[in-house]
Amino acid sequence: MSISVVILAAGKGSRMKSTTPKVLHEISGKAMLFHAIDAAQKISDDITIILYHQATRVQEHIEQEYKNINFHIQEAEKFPGTGGAMKGVKTKYKKTLILNGDMPLITQESLLALTKGDADINMSVIKLLNPSGYGRVIIANQKVQEIVEEKDCNQTQKDIKTVNAGIYCVNSNLLNRYIPKIGNNNAQKEYYLTDIIKMAVDENLTVTPIYVEETEFKGVNSKLDLSIAEEIMQQRIKEKWMNQGVSMRLPTTIYIDIRANFKGECILENGVTILGKSYLENSHIKTHSVIEDATIINSDVGPIGRLRPLAHITDTHIGNFVEVKKSTLNGVKAGHLAYIGDASIERGSNIGAGVITCNYDGKKKYQTTIGKNVFVGSDTQLIAPLTIEDDVIIAAGTTLAKNVKQGELAISRPPLKRISNFFYKFFGKS
Ligand code: UD1
Ligand code: MG
Repeated sequence: MSISVVILAAGKGSRMKSTTPKVLHEISGKAMLFHAIDAAQKISDDITIILYHQATRVQEHIEQEYKNINFHIQEAEKFPGTGGAMKGVKTKYKKTLILNGDMPLITQESLLALTKGDADINMSVIKLLNPSGYGRVIIANQKVQEIVEEKDCNQTQKDIKTVNAGIYCVNSNLLNRYIPKIGNNNAQKEYYLTDIIKMAVDENLTVTPIYVEETEFKGVNSKLDLSIAEEIMQQRIKEKWMNQGVSMRLPTTIYIDIRANFKGECILENGVTILGKSYLENSHIKTHSVIEDATIINSDVGPIGRLRPLAHITDTHIGNFVEVKKSTLNGVKAGHLAYIGDASIERGSNIGAGVITCNYDGKKKYQTTIGKNVFVGSDTQLIAPLTIEDDVIIAAGTTLAKNVKQGELAISRPPLKRISNFFYKFFGKS
């Protein structure tokens, strides 16, 4: 579509009280700004992002994920504010959609709704019970007159419940004409983009309010806003996956990263957390398990199981208090209390309670390779690098530092001593 998009992301975000730039705060595993870029990329091939505060950090972050984005550095010392942010910005197409970078809930559809019709300006408007934090929209005779920022409002204006959601679709020519004229005669001594509305009204141009919902247009200014937006996003993500056949027990207690994927019939019990680019297929994740950047196929995990990055399990049972990291398990059972890191384990093998792959010597990580049908007894330490061939038994309590050949039993157990009546000698008889 022939429309340009400008995303304002130069602000400091002082209300976040954070050293991280506001737009890099994450919602469901993705920076707020990235949610906005994703929606914008679906409707435009001319996207400009305005940066200033920690510009290098934000730009590098963006460039790791996205290509073909234009950047514009705001002269924020001279021209602070959202209007200042637009100074010197040139866009390619006849219409320009301007959006704030702190609106992570917007979608392609909500952006498209703003581009309809041929008004000189379309602006997004929300009706709210609690309008605080937003600019108020002054409407008279059903026509938008101007936007007044909260800090500039008199008492009557403060009570207005119709607010500016922060997205505008403007004729690019108009923008080029208005932006240089914006002044800073207001409570914050900032150049407000919102002033273009009054400029257009004064010239009798058409400004069309497009009524939208806060569930898609919420602006995030504080950590409280962030948590509210997160809840809305989570609800959206979970609804999507439930509609595609994922079962969720008490969904409000479940957290799912926006980058996670599911296939087939999966069950998530209450308290489950799915992070990163996890992939789950026909699997059952039980109460309070945490899954991060893991692949789980035809398997079950938990309750209270933990799969860390690059865990890849198929046809496998992972029980309670078992942690798996950077390991591939195929048809394996690890029912209780184990750490499996930097390992590969083949079909039919059983990992007993308390088994630990000692994968780290304080300097480097080492690999453990376990073949088919290996029975690893409880409380065994597998000191990597280590290879255990097929059809092996490792006796409970073994400390294994040498490779084991096919069909062998490996056992390391200090001889047992029994001393008669030692208890009574030590504690005395009652
Ligand atoms: C802005 C609007 C307000 C609207 C609200 C909707 C103005 C003056 N006010 O207020 O009417 O109700 O959004 O969420 O526009 N930014 C820059 N450069 C700056 C300042 C800000 O690029 O100098 C960017 C920020 O990074 C942010 C966006 O512009 O992404 C909005 O800035 P913010 O300070 O959050 O404005 P609000 O007070 O929320
Ligand atoms: Mg804001």
